[in-house]
Amino acid sequence: MCSEHHAQVLVASNRGPLSYALREDGTLDARRGGGGLVSGLSAIGPDVNALWVCSALGDGDREAVRRGVGERGVRMLAIDAETHADAYNGVANSVLWFVHHLLYQTPLEPSFGTEFRRQWAAYEAYNEAFAEALAAEAAPGAAVLVQDYHLALVPGMLRSLRADLRIGHFSHTPWAPLDYFRMLPDDIAERLLRGMLGADRLGFLTRRWADAFVGCAEGVLGAGALGGTRIGVHGLGADADFLRERARRGDVEERLADLREQIGGAGGAGGSAGRKAIVRVDRTELSKNIVRGLHAYRLLLDEHPEWRERVTHVAFAYPSRQDLAVYRSYTAEVSRVAAEINAAYGTADWTPVILHVKDDFARSLAAYRLADVALVNPIRDGMNLVAKEVPVVSDEGCALVLSREAGAYEELGDDALVVNPYDVTATAAALHTALTMPVDERAERTKRLAVAATSLPPGRWFLEQLEALRR
Ligand code: F6P
Repeated sequence: MCSEHHAQVLVASNRGPLSYALREDGTLDARRGGGGLVSGLSAIGPDVNALWVCSALGDGDREAVRRGVGERGVRMLAIDAETHADAYNGVANSVLWFVHHLLYQTPLEPSFGTEFRRQWAAYEAYNEAFAEALAAEAAPGAAVLVQDYHLALVPGMLRSLRADLRIGHFSHTPWAPLDYFRMLPDDIAERLLRGMLGADRLGFLTRRWADAFVGCAEGVLGAGALGGTRIGVHGLGADADFLRERARRGDVEERLADLREQIGGAGGAGGSAGRKAIVRVDRTELSKNIVRGLHAYRLLLDEHPEWRERVTHVAFAYPSRQDLAVYRSYTAEVSRVAAEINAAYGTADWTPVILHVKDDFARSLAAYRLADVALVNPIRDGMNLVAKEVPVVSDEGCALVLSREAGAYEELGDDALVVNPYDVTATAAALHTALTMPVDERAERTKRLAVAATSLPPGRWFLEQLEALRR
């Protein structure tokens, strides 16, 4: 039943902790990713035999698997590329992500026909491949922590292969309300819920998402649907030690100077008397609401002309899911609206919107440090770590304009300026309030935000789940 690995703790996720790119000379370049799960897993220490099972995502990954190149503690599954594309792009990102983030334009979509059924079969095969790999690698009684909506069927499938395992599932996204979830075909809604309920324990980022799941399970499957499955809430926090150290390195200092120059204005940003900076950092993700954020900024310049030339909107919108046409057109719309604002209001020495689309973590940290205002206005978001990271590294305090639909609102709502993300007028007004917030108040709020944002660092977040699963 088990291979020689006999891992005691297993993590399963679509995207793994490393990826491979194929160089021109045919060699492979390994790149390690960051994020809460990577630092969380490292908290279990070197003595525990841990294994991360993930999917090969690109050609480099597939080639690495073919050549048998790998890293200890990581097993990459080279699932057939078409099956993966149908499961990841077709079902996970175009259906489940849309359902949980309420993204459909419902007069025309979704429309579940034969194409969806074909993709659903791929989603099942992809989940089955994970379940089989986990079943083969896990030691008797091992703990398996399955991540996210990509792998919703894995707990149930794995349970039927290995009844001895402790199986947890964690959702990094929101969970849909019952009426919205019911857009899914009935049998699919049932399959997803029963798949998740194969776990001993289901984890969510906030109480709101956990309650929504329970509402769906009981609404679709009936009272008592949870059976023996326990529900837990673990609000992933920012990694203060890592961020504070990383944000003070030379590359960040360099980018800070560059950004100050781009922003311009006497004295630069950062709470000084110079031009102020409204900062946002996101993946170019439909749920992040970047376009309405730009509209709100334009409204601010219209309604408060006194801000013209005295504020700059620094917007980092990094590429995401570009295989999907709707993401490509959203990315184009972000650039179009930013250019429109610059054409309408820009002057010889003032660019109202500085938009960067190339991912650069050091530059993101630099922007966090100098931000006078951080704009985090998602339509809906599992947590939103940007809202938690900015207060931790801010140099002189930063006012946070925060959507009430972000998971982070549960912990940060008291000291943020809270907005309805659809209300552009209210968002523009909140930006004005944020820009005029007295420096002392801003600094005090930032301190409290940083405490709330770091109350559950990634290491503890991971260990808490593991302990709860073993209990
Ligand atoms: O936070 C939710 C999530 O789906 C993660 O699981 C995922 O890694 C991230 O968003 C980015 O999405 P993707 O892996 O599709 O780029």
